[in-house]
Amino acid sequence: MSFDFHSQLVDKYEELKYSLLKAQTFSQEHYGFPPIYYKIMETDDIRVGAYKKAFQHYNFKDKIVCEAGVGTLALTQHFLDDVKKAYLIENNPDLKEFIQQKIKEKGWEDKVVLLFGDAMSLELPEKVDYIVGELMSIYCGNEYQVQIFKHLRQFLKPEGKLLPERIVNVGQLSYAEFDQYKHYPINFTRHLPEQLSMQQEINTIDLYAEDELRIQKKIQVNPIMSGIVNAIYMHSFVQVAEGCNFTGTDSLMPPTVCKLEKEVEVKQGHSVTLHVDFGYGTSLDEARFWIGS
Ligand SMILES: C[S@@+](CC[C@H](N)C(=O)[O-])C[C@H]1O[C@@H](n2cnc3c(N)ncnc32)[C@H](O)[C@@H]1O
Repeated sequence: MSFDFHSQLVDKYEELKYSLLKAQTFSQEHYGFPPIYYKIMETDDIRVGAYKKAFQHYNFKDKIVCEAGVGTLALTQHFLDDVKKAYLIENNPDLKEFIQQKIKEKGWEDKVVLLFGDAMSLELPEKVDYIVGELMSIYCGNEYQVQIFKHLRQFLKPEGKLLPERIVNVGQLSYAEFDQYKHYPINFTRHLPEQLSMQQEINTIDLYAEDELRIQKKIQVNPIMSGIVNAIYMHSFVQVAEGCNFTGTDSLMPPTVCKLEKEVEVKQGHSVTLHVDFGYGTSLDEARFWIGS
């Protein structure tokens, strides 16, 4: 890799500040994501690797599996050879031909049932051993991971497993530059906010049991630096299976800054109350975070 290429990248840092935000924004208009986002996801070995590790952690041999939101089969291809049967769900019509073609090419037709539709309402004709899904966004704020697993878990055998199973959302008080957007994922470390508190748990999602779709909480935070706070720095830790973790990359759940309702001055060691109000599968534009009493 030449220094020239790095130098070109440095010239583009500012231009690329919001490119990840645009690539990852779920849009009803194009029934999902633009092609660039599938490329970002497919090429991320950390993201795909966490799922591969979890597939190996369990034994998928001769099992019945359902995967919601298969996309370009980036995860699916790592378990299909083993399983007895797979119900594959996707609702992006642009991917239909690609998925059908790939399944034919690989000779998986006999074991695959393709379901084109909404994973939040589709019914499965039998109970399954595993439900796989990667429909996550930071804090599950934009996508329907929680809603989809809440619906699909009725089709899980009693001893069956969800992949992922647990998501821990954490946050830090911070100061970030905002111009056109209320929130944006960090694409390069130079766009990291100034951080004024340690990482703290905001909420934990147990996908076997989560019923609430809106999180409203107050959390005590002790600043370790004095300064102005205008943002929450969001980070999500995902347990795909026990010991098989994913803690965010540029392709999935990148650490993200979201503007507070109002900026506030904090003093080192003087605890403040962070108020949190956001919904799963809505939009971070609607999420509200503020410091109050
Ligand atoms: C984040 S992508 C992941 C794709 C693939 N599983 C992977 O890991 O590369 C999520 C996929 O789920 C699909 N999707 C989102 N909401 C859905 C829904 N309600 N029902 C079915 N598919 C959905 C999107 O179109 C997209 O292809």
